[in-house]
Amino acid sequence: HNPEKAKLFEAYELAGKLYQYILKNTEQGKEAMQYLRARGLSDKLIDTFGIGYAPPQWETLTQLYERRQFPLPLMEQGGLLSVRQDGQGFFDKFRERIIFPIHDWKGRLIAFGGRAMGDKQPKYLNSPETMLFYKSRSLYNMHLARPQIRKLRQLVLFEGYMDVIKAWAAGITNGVATMGTALTAEHAEGIRKQADEVIVVYDGDSAGQTAAYKSIPILEQAGCVVKIAIIPNSQDPDDYITNNGSERFVREVIETAVPSIKYKLLYIRKNYKLQEDGDKLRYIQNALKLIADVPSPVEREHYAKELAQEFHYSYEVTLQNLNEIRLQSEKNN
Ligand code: UTP
Ligand code: MN
Ligand code: MN
Ligand code: MN
Ligand code: MN
Repeated sequence: HNPEKAKLFEAYELAGKLYQYILKNTEQGKEAMQYLRARGLSDKLIDTFGIGYAPPQWETLTQLYERRQFPLPLMEQGGLLSVRQDGQGFFDKFRERIIFPIHDWKGRLIAFGGRAMGDKQPKYLNSPETMLFYKSRSLYNMHLARPQIRKLRQLVLFEGYMDVIKAWAAGITNGVATMGTALTAEHAEGIRKQADEVIVVYDGDSAGQTAAYKSIPILEQAGCVVKIAIIPNSQDPDDYITNNGSERFVREVIETAVPSIKYKLLYIRKNYKLQEDGDKLRYIQNALKLIADVPSPVEREHYAKELAQEFHYSYEVTLQNLNEIRLQSEKNN
């Protein structure tokens, strides 16, 4: 039992309640409420995710902690307050932001993500790493998604808060998010304990697609079967749901997620001018290298066949080539 940790849990709980109250019951919360409405969030969704609003004043939370005799230096260490420039006293870290509470898997509040309503930078201000919040382990919404993840043995992985929330409203209740940080081996090991399969649904922009590509070996190393969903026109899941509705999101994005090997082939393909012979041969060679790494012989055969057909090569030659690559990599390992 660590009394500092206990105090910090209590402090986050209190702050979360205050921010929710301000959003729902005060004049100051009205604009924030309008912002959330405009982004398509219902009252019920706002409650489910415990969303709140931190007002623009500098000492809303600071004064509450003072009145309740919480140790302010600990609150600063815990990422809730900041130290004044002159070193005398403290002020609220989160101001004029929509507050997304972040919980551990047991449902205890451990951090906040705070979104600016306008173009203020950063777009999201998150709690720093603290004795409660380990970014390389935490996944947003794990506490709510856990029962469904374990039931389906499947997890849906998003980038951001709003993606998880909008997907939840669309019926995807096994979704969690990495909150902008790169997926780690620790994340993957935690995921593997709950799920056999992961569907990665990162943003459709190039940053999101690169992050999805990089997540594949990390998840597979941990023993997960990986599928990747592809979202057109650089939209993110939240945008896609807003533009096309929930049903189309489930049908056209989630249910059409492709196996990791298929995604890797599509991903590297963009780097080649396939109407030019030299590029075409280089693509085929690199595609075969990727296919050679697929553990299942049936799947290897399937993708080798598809490649042969697309480029009008005989299957025999393609297979021979594939086997040579496999022999070569066995020698190297
Ligand atoms: P995105 O830039 O894709 O934001 O970052 P978003 O989730 O689509 O945000 P909205 O829809 O504009 O509100 C994905 C995630 O990366 C983290 C957040 O967790 C965000 O949800 N992030 C992003 C930060 O922590 N800080 C930032 O400044 C930006
Ligand atoms: Mn993004
Ligand atoms: Mn996004
Ligand atoms: Mn978004
Ligand atoms: Mn956006």
